[in-house]
Amino acid sequence: MTTDPVSVVSSLGRVHLPTIHPPVKGNVGKPSDELKAKISLFDPNLPYEQARAIPPIWYRDPQIYEAERSTVFGQNWVAVGRVGDVLTPRSYFKEQVAEEPVAVLRGADGNLRAFLNVCRHRATELLTNSRGILTDDKVKCDYHGWCYDLTGRLCKAPELGPVEGFSREGYSLIPFEAGTFDPLVFIRMQPGTENLSTTFEPIVQRTKDMELSSMKWAGRKEYEVGCNWKVYVDNFLDGGYHVPTIHPALIKALNYSQYRTEIFDRCSLQHSPTKTANDDPTVALRQGAEAMYWWIYPNVMVNLYKGVMDTNIVLPLGPDRCKVIFDFYFSDGWDQPSIDKYITDAHQVQLEDMGVCERVQRGLTSNFIEPGPYGKRETGEYHFHQLLARQLQTAVDQ
Ligand code: FES
Ligand SMILES: [Fe+2]
Repeated sequence: MTTDPVSVVSSLGRVHLPTIHPPVKGNVGKPSDELKAKISLFDPNLPYEQARAIPPIWYRDPQIYEAERSTVFGQNWVAVGRVGDVLTPRSYFKEQVAEEPVAVLRGADGNLRAFLNVCRHRATELLTNSRGILTDDKVKCDYHGWCYDLTGRLCKAPELGPVEGFSREGYSLIPFEAGTFDPLVFIRMQPGTENLSTTFEPIVQRTKDMELSSMKWAGRKEYEVGCNWKVYVDNFLDGGYHVPTIHPALIKALNYSQYRTEIFDRCSLQHSPTKTANDDPTVALRQGAEAMYWWIYPNVMVNLYKGVMDTNIVLPLGPDRCKVIFDFYFSDGWDQPSIDKYITDAHQVQLEDMGVCERVQRGLTSNFIEPGPYGKRETGEYHFHQLLARQLQTAVDQ
């Protein structure tokens, strides 16, 4: 990582920003009047007390979903995985990012790159293992044998013969920008003006005494959830509103009456003092002066307690399905039974969240339902809806 061109030290780790700016890709298309009408159903400029949540059809409509794929997931820095999976030269991981097959790999030169994980010949998925280390400096398509080097350049196209207008340069892998904010890897499919380190600045400031960069990864859990990705994010951003009712164990660890939300430009923080340890083992494992639940637009959460962090990446799998990836990090001093206990407790909380999110999705399929108001705790949710609506509106206005 030290070979990356730009790095900024932060308490969460290091931000590495790429120098390459790939050509604009993607297929936004001309927005239809129908799509514009759907997007105009939500006014992000209303005062909080007058606002209502985003319309139910936004959680199930294929047109809205495609607009989100090309804008929300196509134009922003989007968290896709873990720096620890791509530390050494030739290491890689792959992920479906709003249904775009993406490969993130570290070249033999030490630089981190991201590509569409698709062969330029007949669109075969290239890397098929979820992560690994390449045995040489090539990515080979095992369908007809086209080969790419680790900068994405097509270096071999066997038996192609004469093809008018063909050049190897024109058939490189489609590049995306890759950047990191330890321990997370981000990609951006289209160039933009957002600066990753500016987005993370509030987090850097508020966590600089927490020695997060010394925490070690202890495991991953992945979940498929039967809801639109926004239902899952909404649930995270409701200011703790659902914690007393849905999470009977977790509520014992938090001082709910002092649970607060703070809004920043492209992220928000929910924080709550934690209760002191008592005989309840869940409380004992979630100690620390404060629990912090960060969300970074559009799809990543960072949960912090004393000596422990888990990151949650939310990736759409369709209008009514998403995947959530949990990675767990612990500071030295956590023994294995305590780590196992923390991960088991987090799994239980996730089952509770998934259950309610899937019930919400079933409710949102109704044509009778209308958007409800925001309660006093749900400012983070409105902030998310505003960011989302403004980005969709900008995209259809262009
Ligand atoms: S699809 Fe990759 S070589 Fe033909
Ligand atoms: Fe929850």
